[in-house]
Amino acid sequence: SLVAVLNGPNLNMLGLRQPHLYGAATLDDVEQLCAETAESLGLAIDFRQTNGEGELVNWVQECRGRAAGIIINAAAYTHTSVALLDALLATELPVIEVHLTNIHAREAFRHHSYVSKAARGVICGFGPRSYALALIAMADLLEDTR
Ligand code: DQA
Repeated sequence: SLVAVLNGPNLNMLGLRQPHLYGAATLDDVEQLCAETAESLGLAIDFRQTNGEGELVNWVQECRGRAAGIIINAAAYTHTSVALLDALLATELPVIEVHLTNIHAREAFRHHSYVSKAARGVICGFGPRSYALALIAMADLLEDTR
């Protein structure tokens, strides 16, 4: 099955961006980890990043009929975007929300997530491993629906 792994704004800056919070790994490193993990689970991935809210909405819409599930780190749009939530609800695909950091241990404005309302589950706080754990969870979900 094909799983879309979608990344939102500023995640292209991983490795350079507040490394005390987000670590030294780059987005390429995260993609590499996802590719290896997916391969071991028998999944294929389409890994993407954009800084644009509209582009993220377009990509979510395009997943319908194309992907079996969506893993999404919507970054700051997690906390702001009703448009993204509506797009995720419309896909009717299993969605897993991921974050590198534990958003609940950070500023209050990061505690609320619109994405969570469309998600089967949320994995946050494990750095790049959050993505690998999400792929394992997605493989389980897709096996259950087979
Ligand atoms: C993030 C957490 C968000 O609050 C923040 O805006 C990000 C990254 C994370 O992966 O920890 O850009 O989604």
